[in-house]
Amino acid sequence: MKKFAVITLFPEMFDKVLGQSMMWKASEIGAAEFHIVDLREFGIGPRKQVDDTVYGGGDGMLLKIEPLYAAVEHAKSLIGDAKVLLMSPRGTTWSQPLVRASADSSDNYILICGHYEGFDERIMSVVDQQVSVGDYVLTGGELPAMTIIDSIVRLLPGVLGGEQSAEIESFSDGDNLEYPQYTRPEVFTTPSGEELRVPEILLSGHHAEIAKWREQNSSTKPE
Ligand code: ADE
Repeated sequence: MKKFAVITLFPEMFDKVLGQSMMWKASEIGAAEFHIVDLREFGIGPRKQVDDTVYGGGDGMLLKIEPLYAAVEHAKSLIGDAKVLLMSPRGTTWSQPLVRASADSSDNYILICGHYEGFDERIMSVVDQQVSVGDYVLTGGELPAMTIIDSIVRLLPGVLGGEQSAEIESFSDGDNLEYPQYTRPEVFTTPSGEELRVPEILLSGHHAEIAKWREQNSSTKPE
């Protein structure tokens, strides 16, 4: 059982994503457990303040250390000791080898989602790793956290079912992307009359030939 706790100012964003499809199934079969921690609950004062202006001047607001620290402590009380990942465009770029290592490890994870201009740097005292989902900047860490959770959970035993899809699939061995696949109908005619056909070989029933075709038509990830 892999446990995740997400610290966020937008807990509702996770309800749909973690409550449906494969993430829902993962919880159902006990492969994964999700806890959403509302950072606002750890805000300071009657207005539950979570952000503040920057010492030394500068635009925008930073997430304050006290609510973040308290939320991490709370997350640890929910799932026990865990690796703390901070969602940040400054972090290590998330990739399939990291996904595989995380899925195979016995680690549980606390994911901290940022907002506004950033965090009080002292949060680093509890962070094990900063993780980025790519070289672009998003408005918050929620989509990155969902991406990281989804990528790990789909590899947990039992989640994808008997399809052994995770094994044959894109990225599972190096950069080899999967081959093109088709389902019925054999011919799809577009409104303008163009006929889009399933490659003949796939209808032939020649397993060896089909395997060869698939091998030849597996694409490599473009640089
Ligand atoms: N927060 C904002 N942009 C991000 C990114 N690219 N990866 C992770 N967290 C982020």
